[in-house]
Amino acid sequence: MLVSATEMLKKAKAGHYAVGQFNINNLEWTKSILATAQELNSPVILGVSEGAGKYMTGYKTVTAMVKAMIEEMNITVPVALHLDHGSYEGCYKCIQAGFSSIMFDGSHYPIEENVEKTKELVKVAHAMGLSIEAEVGSIGGEEDGVVGMGECADPNECKAIADLGIDFLAAGIGNIHGKYPENWKGLSFETLAAIQEKTGEMPLVLHGGTGIPADMIKKAIDLGVAKINVNTECQLSFAAATREYIEAGKDQQGKGFDPRKLLAPGAAAIKETVKEKMELFGSVGKA
Ligand code: 13P
Repeated sequence: MLVSATEMLKKAKAGHYAVGQFNINNLEWTKSILATAQELNSPVILGVSEGAGKYMTGYKTVTAMVKAMIEEMNITVPVALHLDHGSYEGCYKCIQAGFSSIMFDGSHYPIEENVEKTKELVKVAHAMGLSIEAEVGSIGGEEDGVVGMGECADPNECKAIADLGIDFLAAGIGNIHGKYPENWKGLSFETLAAIQEKTGEMPLVLHGGTGIPADMIKKAIDLGVAKINVNTECQLSFAAATREYIEAGKDQQGKGFDPRKLLAPGAAAIKETVKEKMELFGSVGKA
């Protein structure tokens, strides 16, 4: 069932668990994530970055694939198809392509411009029945060898954006995309608590879910996080399982080179990672 993420996150917030957003890259990713959500009776959010959207030939292809899979695989749990870190133009493209949710990442704009653009997109997204996520305070990460430590958002700016009627808010609390460096200081729970105090019932989003220790995840959920994004960890699981298959020479045995066989261990590994995360986030049985 393709739905916006509004209801599932309100329920998660009230029930003190989080819904996982798992980023998709292709058919195998999408199929593995949908199958796991159905098996565990968990709501799920499929994240699509602008780069992944382009890789899959465009947002229309993504929407068509996801809608068809939901039908052909008899997926009855709530599924949201969500643009991850969308640009202003990307948000409009996804609204037109039939996504059920968008994230407008205006965190690199001055706050006034972030407010202005977010406000406009809230109106358009809601008129079309989509949910919308906004961001304040950039999420760190590694880009071309430069490692950003993850900025902490200003709680007052978070309130200004939350008051625009968005459905959920991504706020930097020292989290980072990709693997965490050795000298990472951990999540700033003081910032998280201050943001939640200012934004009331707003479901908060924790980006950079890969590699955050379980106790920090649980504490973040206790303090108001209702959506956790995971991308890199599925990529690492997929790559490791595929490498193992090839290094064991299995692609050279019989018809082991058949892509359906070659990609099967990686797809199974994604399922395992998604299952672990859904159990940790507490969304199992919550569909
Ligand atoms: P990771 O790649 O660190 O899991 O982060 C995912 C994410 O936050 C996508 O927006």
